[in-house]
Amino acid sequence: MSSTIIIHHQKINRTVQTALDLIGTALLDLTDRSGKNVNFLFTNDREIQKLNRTYRNKNESTNVLSFPFTSGTDEVISSLPINELGDVVISLETARKEAEEMHLSFLQRLTWLMTHGFLHLLGYDHEQSEAEAIEMAKKEEMLLTVIDHYRRPVMPHLAINVDHVATIREARGITEPDPVTAAGICELAGAKGIVVHLREDRRHIQDRDVSILRETVQTKLNLEMGATKEIIAIALAIKPDMVTLVPEKRQELTTEGGLDVVSQKKKIAKAIEKFMKANIPVSLFIDADPEQITLAHEIGATFIELHTGKYANARDEMIRQQEYDLIKSSAEYAFQTGLRVNAGHGLNYINTAPIAAIDTIEELSIGHAIIARSVFTGLDQAVREMNDIITGASIL
Ligand code: PXP
Repeated sequence: MSSTIIIHHQKINRTVQTALDLIGTALLDLTDRSGKNVNFLFTNDREIQKLNRTYRNKNESTNVLSFPFTSGTDEVISSLPINELGDVVISLETARKEAEEMHLSFLQRLTWLMTHGFLHLLGYDHEQSEAEAIEMAKKEEMLLTVIDHYRRPVMPHLAINVDHVATIREARGITEPDPVTAAGICELAGAKGIVVHLREDRRHIQDRDVSILRETVQTKLNLEMGATKEIIAIALAIKPDMVTLVPEKRQELTTEGGLDVVSQKKKIAKAIEKFMKANIPVSLFIDADPEQITLAHEIGATFIELHTGKYANARDEMIRQQEYDLIKSSAEYAFQTGLRVNAGHGLNYINTAPIAAIDTIEELSIGHAIIARSVFTGLDQAVREMNDIITGASIL
């Protein structure tokens, strides 16, 4: 027997459900209750208000209610020969509101409420005395610290954009340095993906690079591209592991803003359809904007890549924090819709850790900072240092 997750009335995607299951199991393990049974029920404000009125004589909605199978202290309950611990009921509506107010991800708030409700089942009570309240808070904090390691639904990894190596090659118009060699070194040093942008004007990556990389990349080849007829045809012929659609302007130095899915819905939807038919997942490089995310989901994108440029380039700490909060809440929102979430642009050895700590982001696409550092340290070392930052941030 183990924890049982029952969802009522509200939609929760499968990944979140799996994460909630893990949290339930972790709570049982960490309190030496593995093998016992606990039910977590997720409902809405109206239903939790009904339960509060019926069983506690309080006609108001709340965030969490606990219904222990039996009463007593943790010690007494653990000595009883019973398998049932009881039910914890959580309002998803209130949890979501509280997550926003507290600047937490939805999953973080749910973890907190599950832990709190679970401790009530074990006899902990913060309403009886100050000493008991302190004891419960301590236990809650201890559990939350440990559970954080269980909770993360996706682990972030590093995909490296090697365009910048091709930029150096093209500056001379010769054959070195070769982005294909760079991709191999990146993979040997621990990168989990290689990204190249085949631009219409072929200013850095050439068709030959993409063809060879298709043969040599061992991890995952992500072809970044504008949704033009010519490049779509090349992508369909080469079959990268995924494509990332980006806006492309000839005058820009690098991709400046996110794709405007709202104004180009039809064109992008058509491109996605073509790639889906060829079994190539599509990511849309967009700004952290709920309208863009909703549409990306609606037209069938598998991933979005959140543009981190404004966060990375902010000179003012307050603006940087605002941009960060926007990326975090947008990633959470996208994740809840079922989209997979990547992020990139302008990330470097200083600003990457907070982005890697966002628990709904699975891939960071980084180019310039790594290639720039490699000039001084070598590419292998530059990749390993960035990987350490990402891994370190994700288990904080
Ligand atoms: N993601 C996208 C969609 C990009 O266009 C770029 C730039 O090529 C990157 C990530 C990487 O950005 P940077 O080179 O600043 O790390």
